[in-house]
Amino acid sequence: MDGNGRWAKKQNFKDRIFGHQNGTKAVREVIEASREIGVEYLTLYAFSTENWSRPKREVNALMELLVKSLKDEREQLIRNGIRLNSIGDISSLPGNCQKELEKVKELTSLNNKLVVTLALSYSSRWEITETIKSIARDAADGRLDPAAIDEAFINQRLHTGGIPDPELLIRTSGEQRISNYLLWQIAYTELYFTDTLWPDFHREEYYKALFDYQQRERRFGKTSEQLNT
Ligand code: IPE
Ligand code: MG
Repeated sequence: MDGNGRWAKKQNFKDRIFGHQNGTKAVREVIEASREIGVEYLTLYAFSTENWSRPKREVNALMELLVKSLKDEREQLIRNGIRLNSIGDISSLPGNCQKELEKVKELTSLNNKLVVTLALSYSSRWEITETIKSIARDAADGRLDPAAIDEAFINQRLHTGGIPDPELLIRTSGEQRISNYLLWQIAYTELYFTDTLWPDFHREEYYKALFDYQQRERRFGKTSEQLNT
């Protein structure tokens, strides 16, 4: 979800935080649309490990916005059968964010229509490093035979364990890079880049990305002929 700051600037608002506030409306719309059309997993890159280096005022505003959104959306999530999940270094978030996040996760834990995962204080290299450490610990303690490590095992041990690999990754705001997001998981993901800034990423923009995805042929290394026989 990129482009909140530039969106605010474009509207002649000096404050980037105004862009973040408007970004939450796009989040709501994309969650609603996902549920309506039957998307089962939606993962949102809300705050990266690297985002901690932004000015303190902006970081604080983002954390406050997170708490406010969790409170505001709680009832809707419960009512609509949406399960909230998170990946990332949650223990590094301010106490009130952790508390609110855990509360909503708990209250929606039995929902199964759509899983919305928030990547918070997340970076893929951090996740992979932590996962390797924990696997190495198990091996060192004799709980794990290194020969038993395969791709499926690693999938399970990553923070995204239980979530299928993404079919489509959307990046807004014209940047064409991955920025330390789900590096292991996107091995065969289709990538979609749009110049639209995140607060302008409404339902129609989301549908456009999904239509684009539907036109693609996912070969997973095979030939087109193999797929069509
Ligand atoms: C993305 O918008 C939101 C977060 C990182 C939280 P940006 O804040 O990166 O907006 P730009 O890239 O400066 O326009
Ligand atoms: Mg940005």
